[in-house]
Amino acid sequence: MSRQPAKLVRGMPLLGPFAANWENVEKFQARPDDLLIATYPKSGTTWMSEIVDQIVAVSNSERCKTAAIYERVPFLEYAVPDMPSGTQALDQRASPRLIKTHLPVELLPKSFWDNKVKVIYVARNAKDVAVSYYHFYRMAIVHPEPGTWDEFLDSYINGKVCFGSWSAHVKGWWQKAKEWDVLYLFYEDMLEDPTREIRKVVKFMGKDLPEETVEKIASQTSFKAMKQNELSNYSMVPSSVMDHSISPFMRKGVCGDWKNQFTVAQNEKFDEYYQREMSDGALSFRS
Ligand code: A3P
Repeated sequence: MSRQPAKLVRGMPLLGPFAANWENVEKFQARPDDLLIATYPKSGTTWMSEIVDQIVAVSNSERCKTAAIYERVPFLEYAVPDMPSGTQALDQRASPRLIKTHLPVELLPKSFWDNKVKVIYVARNAKDVAVSYYHFYRMAIVHPEPGTWDEFLDSYINGKVCFGSWSAHVKGWWQKAKEWDVLYLFYEDMLEDPTREIRKVVKFMGKDLPEETVEKIASQTSFKAMKQNELSNYSMVPSSVMDHSISPFMRKGVCGDWKNQFTVAQNEKFDEYYQREMSDGALSFRS
């Protein structure tokens, strides 16, 4: 696989191969019992996917052991040559389906709204996302060239990276949560108290689990457990697509790693951008 430049889809930069498949995403047929996990990239999507799948699997303990996370929770807009696309994988999947997307709220296919699909949204602080995304661009060859860290950060601030602006994404879904069945969670809260956040997910999914089951799910979805689990650490993806020797998918899994990456000047510039975008104070993040 070789790197391709991003392409604009309805004004949003998207990975080149994904953009080529956009028509199939727009006409995707959601089902009323689907559950959607929506995030800006690098915000804890895989973590939440594993949690939700383990909640579903409580009545079928083999389920989580049968396939990689990206097969159990297909990625709606995923499309690379010679592999089934996200929409193809989803069309073949029995209900109830778990679906992952990075789309901003305004680009979600209409059938999700028509079918009143419930959504779990996970947001993560902007600085850690930027760092995680940069390392992901480097290792996942399906992305455009990341450039230097300084260049990447500039693109990120200007909404030029794939899936566009972080601030528009987190704010757009936050607004939607006021009028839709959206459980809006934060990565930093999940790190602080995973069982508390898992209990919210269980309740949102209309389930009731004993405390010991919640604790078991928290332990099986810890960073350490997922990093070691080949079904959740993306090590089964060919190295021509994801090169873990450049940077592992399960990289650090902490809050505040941005302090190891940002220079003082970059941090000042970033804070100005952040102030501009997020000063209405409706959404606050811990970083
Ligand atoms: P880092 O690169 O900062 O380590 P996504 O799944 O949305 O692509 O997000 C990936 C980020 O979530 C990576 O962040 C990854 O390490 C982190 N992550 C994945 N599983 C995690 C877990 N169980 N606990 C904490 N962080 C996790």
